[in-house]
Amino acid sequence: YRDLRVALLGCGSVGAQVARLLLEQGDELAARVGARLHLTGIAVRDLDAPRDVDLPRELFTTDAEQLVLGADIVVELMGGIETARELILRALESGADVVTANKALIAEHGPELADAAEQVGAQLSYEAAVAGAIPIIRPLRESLAGDHITRVLGIVNGSTNYILDRMDRFGDSAEDAMRVASELGYLEADPTLDVEGYDAAQKATILASIAFHTVVPVDAVYREGISGVTSAQIEAARHAGYVIKLLAIAERLTAADGTTGVSARVYPALISRDHPLAAVHGGKNAVFVEAEAAGELMFYGAGAGGVETASAVLGDLVSAARRHVIGGPGIPGSSHADLCVLPIGEVSTSY
Ligand code: HSE
Repeated sequence: YRDLRVALLGCGSVGAQVARLLLEQGDELAARVGARLHLTGIAVRDLDAPRDVDLPRELFTTDAEQLVLGADIVVELMGGIETARELILRALESGADVVTANKALIAEHGPELADAAEQVGAQLSYEAAVAGAIPIIRPLRESLAGDHITRVLGIVNGSTNYILDRMDRFGDSAEDAMRVASELGYLEADPTLDVEGYDAAQKATILASIAFHTVVPVDAVYREGISGVTSAQIEAARHAGYVIKLLAIAERLTAADGTTGVSARVYPALISRDHPLAAVHGGKNAVFVEAEAAGELMFYGAGAGGVETASAVLGDLVSAARRHVIGGPGIPGSSHADLCVLPIGEVSTSY
């Protein structure tokens, strides 16, 4: 196989897992892609910081700019806005494809970065920026590209879902539920981003822009967090047959003056207990999509977590790498089959 040079920026909980999977599954990924994904280095701020995973020390560098030079694919998992933006622009300008999980950056600068990618024919992908492991960006952008999406309803913030769910199902106080969410590592470094709905609003911006083929700036998203939700309200909702969930809603609406546009909002909403979103418990995420032809679809799974989010990053990475090999996203051929097919009768068919 030829080598594709992959530069990793950041080695937090997601970055460390991406590096581990790249190293451990190198042969399998090479067979799937038709090229070897060669991790050339990992740019970090502090060479000696503790990591979730033991990785070869020689991979680490503090010189992100140098690492980006000459990479075929840059994976940005460092977070923050300005430095990440500059490095991504530099990578795209050099013709490298970029994979990022940086929701704040995409929410703020997505259009600028997408333009930069388009100008050089590079690929910018960010499946992991919304709802962690759940494939939602590519389904909206590609699988549903021929349909008319009318509404997207998302539980896209795991920590607030965890808190509301604990309050609803176990009668926890908001403070207790928040403490456990924090212990589980669901919260952002600044929990206000979760609790006041900023994180969900960033994700709503991204979902709305893709679902409706437009640019929905993050400050056009109505935002209300869960800090005003009380146990009494949750209890009253339950008695009336509802559950309170922090929803990110993007929908095509016709305003009073007849203009049709997109409305994006984040707020604690009442959902009927019969709705599939009502069954999204704990820190899980789900995105419910309504489309004219497809009807109702739901995407469910882990919205956070190092290894879970790394799955989405690796998916983008494989897709970008395949483009290098065959000039398009490509469908894996059976010649790369990982597994044999078991003969009928060898397996139990009961669940
Ligand atoms: N703080 C975020 C959440 C992490 O609770 O969903 C994943 O984006």
